[in-house]
Amino acid sequence: MEQLQNVYKVIDNEQLCPQFWRLTFDAPALTKTILPGQFIHIRTNEVSLEPFFRRPFSVYRVQKYVEIFYEPIGPGTRLLALKKKGDLLDVLGPLGTPFVMPPEACKQVLMVAGGIGIAPMLILSDVLRKKKLELILLYGGRSRGHVYPMQEFKDNGVKVYIATDDGSIGAKGWVSTLFDKIPTSSRTTFIYTCGPNAMMKAVQAFAARAGLRGQAACEEVMACGLGACLGCSIPTTKGYKTVCCDGPALNLDEVIFHA
Ligand SMILES: Cc1cc2nc3c(=O)[nH]c(=O)nc-3n(C[C@H](O)[C@H](O)[C@H](O)COP(=O)(O)OP(=O)(O)OC[C@H]3O[C@@H](n4cnc5c(N)ncnc54)[C@H](O)[C@@H]3O)c2cc1C
Ligand code: FES
Repeated sequence: MEQLQNVYKVIDNEQLCPQFWRLTFDAPALTKTILPGQFIHIRTNEVSLEPFFRRPFSVYRVQKYVEIFYEPIGPGTRLLALKKKGDLLDVLGPLGTPFVMPPEACKQVLMVAGGIGIAPMLILSDVLRKKKLELILLYGGRSRGHVYPMQEFKDNGVKVYIATDDGSIGAKGWVSTLFDKIPTSSRTTFIYTCGPNAMMKAVQAFAARAGLRGQAACEEVMACGLGACLGCSIPTTKGYKTVCCDGPALNLDEVIFHA
């Protein structure tokens, strides 16, 4: 797959809720190539080498422009939050292995996301809505500040269920408290998950109990993003795999989550 390093113009950068932001940029080369589950590697500082490494981001949506959804939690993401319309963004991508599509027999897709793990799910639902499947999103956030309206999901026909750790919105508790609300079938349900390792470990256990197959969009701190440094290697039942090249999307039952 062709990998492109390019400089694109920022179209918009808005805060959607207390914790999360959405940055939109004009990247015609990316809109034609990127697939759900892939990521882009962004140089967050245009004028100095601090932070030195690019930062990886899932693609949230691709329409006329490309959107990422992010949480300012450190130097790189805080610099991203300062970007204004017309600023330039140095982007490498698309990178990584996308999600596999559900098998033919699938009728129901369960997307289970925690916090910023929601990021790869909207572009996924944009693709899956064309397949006429029942789409369900189980979303878990720490509190109300981690929840935004998610109208784009609802517009895609996705049924959205929310849980927060403190119960300030939705059900109280971890997103795993929502599992029992959804009747699933080992023949016709497929799972996609992204979020903290502890959450994905719980999703993996639920999938194993219910006999469900699925994929996990894994995250690990990255340097090169290109498979050269092996810094993003994670253990799987098939040996170590790099999140940046073998993943981010890996089979849910293969990943050994360190939570
Ligand atoms: C494939 C992939 C896709 C991602 N997609 C998104 C996204 O769509 N939106 C988003 O907000 N973030 C996403 N991330 C995480 C994002 O890359 C980090 O939040 C970012 O690199 C933090 O950079 P920083 O300089 O702001 O903070 P740093 O100071 O670099 O990090 C802040 C804290 O977060 C921890 N951290 C950094 N990266 C990760 C990681 N990958 N996994 C777990 N902990 C980490 C650090 O150890 C530190 O404690 C993704 C990561 C990967 C690997
Ligand atoms: S970040 Fe270098 S191999 Fe993945």
